Amino acid sequence: MWVPIALGRDVPRGATRAVLLEGEELVVWRGEAGTVQVWEDRCPHRGMRLSFGFVRGDALNCLYHGWEYGAGASCRRIPAHPDLTVPPTIRAKAFAATETGGLILVDRDGTGGPPPLMLAGLPVASLAIAADPETLFQLVPATPRPDPQLVEATLDGVRFHLGWHVPGPGRIMLHALVLDPGAESRALIALHKLRSEAEARRAA
Ligand code: FES
Repeated sequence: MWVPIALGRDVPRGATRAVLLEGEELVVWRGEAGTVQVWEDRCPHRGMRLSFGFVRGDALNCLYHGWEYGAGASCRRIPAHPDLTVPPTIRAKAFAATETGGLILVDRDGTGGPPPLMLAGLPVASLAIAADPETLFQLVPATPRPDPQLVEATLDGVRFHLGWHVPGPGRIMLHALVLDPGAESRALIALHKLRSEAEARRAA
C-alpha cells in the first residue's frame, strides 16, 4: 500500500529525514540528482541511524564508520578497507518510493501496485496531530481518492490535497498541499484550527 510520509519540499537534495511509520523507523533521503529513496533507518554494520548520515552525490554515508550505500541500498565502499570489493549481501533495507504532486510515498509491503498520480499542489505543512484518523476525518468534508491515505478536501474555503501517515497509536501526521495559489496563509490557519478541534474531540 502506498502511504504518504512527507512533503517533497521538506527533503531537499542532499538531505536526510527520519520518519516514524506505524512504529517503524525510516530514513527518507534525496541524492544530489534529485531522486528520493526510503530505507530502513538502520545501518547494517552496527545499527546506527542512517538519518544521521550524510549524502554525497547519489550515496548515503553512515555517520559512524562511513560505510557508503548507493543505488538499491547496496554498500559500495567501506573506508577502513578501501581495497575491499564489498559483498553484494551487505545492503540496507530499501522500500519502493515515489513522489507525486508534492508528496513522497512509500510502499513497504509491495502491495501498492502502480504508484498514484496526483496534480501538483503547493506544500503548506506536515502537521503532527494527537488524534486517530477516524476522529480527524469526522471533521473534514473530504472526497476519497482511489489511494487509501489520500483525499481531496475543502477547509474554510481552501481546497486541499491531504495525505497522512500514522506514526503510532493515537497519532497522525497530516501532509497538506493547497490547490489554490495564494491561499497558503489561510490554509495554515485552517489546518491549525482542524488540529485543535480534533485534539479537543479526542480529549472529550
Ligand atoms: S554503524 Fe554504520 S558504518 Fe558502522
